[in-house]
Amino acid sequence: MTESNIRSVGVIGAGQMGNGIAHVCALAGYTVYLNDVTPDRIKAGLATINGNMARQVAKNVITEEDRKNALARIRPAETLEELSDCDLVIETAVEKEEVKRKIFAELCATLKPDAIIGTNTSSISITRLAASTDRPERFIGIHFMNPVPVMELVEVIRGIATSDATFETAKAFVGTLGKTIAVSEDFPAFIVNRILLPMINEAIYTLYEGVGNVEAIDTAMRLGAHHPMGPLELADFIGLDTCLSVMQVLHEGLADSKYRPCPLLVKYVEAGWLGRKTQRGFYDYRGEKPVPTR
Ligand SMILES: NC(=O)c1ccc[n+]([C@@H]2O[C@H](COP(=O)([O-])OP(=O)(O)OC[C@H]3O[C@@H](n4cnc5c(N)ncnc54)[C@H](O)[C@@H]3O)[C@@H](O)[C@H]2O)c1
Repeated sequence: MTESNIRSVGVIGAGQMGNGIAHVCALAGYTVYLNDVTPDRIKAGLATINGNMARQVAKNVITEEDRKNALARIRPAETLEELSDCDLVIETAVEKEEVKRKIFAELCATLKPDAIIGTNTSSISITRLAASTDRPERFIGIHFMNPVPVMELVEVIRGIATSDATFETAKAFVGTLGKTIAVSEDFPAFIVNRILLPMINEAIYTLYEGVGNVEAIDTAMRLGAHHPMGPLELADFIGLDTCLSVMQVLHEGLADSKYRPCPLLVKYVEAGWLGRKTQRGFYDYRGEKPVPTR
């Protein structure tokens, strides 16, 4: 199958990433079937897409007509059966292997045989996930960045069995979304997170060892390395639980002590201080301005 015969895209999971993926696919002209565990979650995903597209209209990134047409292309799908005629299905449910495996088992039972399955996993082996389906040769990693409508990159990851045709189709498909591709081999955390998370972890060690405080570390990297956000600010944005789980995947998957998660990161996660989403992490977001917590 080539990109020219991808017309419809199924998206499983309407969370942070799923609604972004549905958003960019619909704007690119694909018919999108958006699935989640409850109708309310799908509705919430659609509401987010609507709001984000309205913001793009206000900023003149898209027209009001683009927004209307794109929204009309997104169909809520309460069951996976409704995705059975899709040419490509992208799984972007929670980062739990058993959940993804269960989804694939149910999906493969009804999905047409020549359809491609993509996964947006940040860390689980593509080869292992592919092996749990009936079509490892038509299975591939398509890893979007957060927030999807804004970030330019998509990592494309082949499993050991992914066919050349699937690889070419996935690359062409990503191109039609206006994104740039980086091809990564199937190793823990792929490219972006393999480099980014150890840097963030090192920034937390720098804090833990008292080399600098939160403000000094973030200022140093913003002004000294021209990073748009300091590493601790960025950790809070990503979510400290997510940062910890990526470091654990690197540590276990590569069995190298250089990836050991900083004990201070573990402590913040144990405290439930997960960053912006819980209003407290390396900064406290409960007041008007973020205040460093160390
Ligand atoms: N957050 C990021 O920065 C980021 C970046 C790239 C990739 N990812 C990956 O994307 C995936 C989704 O992450 P997210 O941040 O959108 O999480 P999220 O928690 O915002 O959304 C996950 C959604 O999946 C739904 N879901 C759970 N089980 C399901 C099932 N059986 N069927 C259908 N839907 C189900 C949940 O109800 C939820 O709405 C994960 O694999 C994650 O690793 C995340």
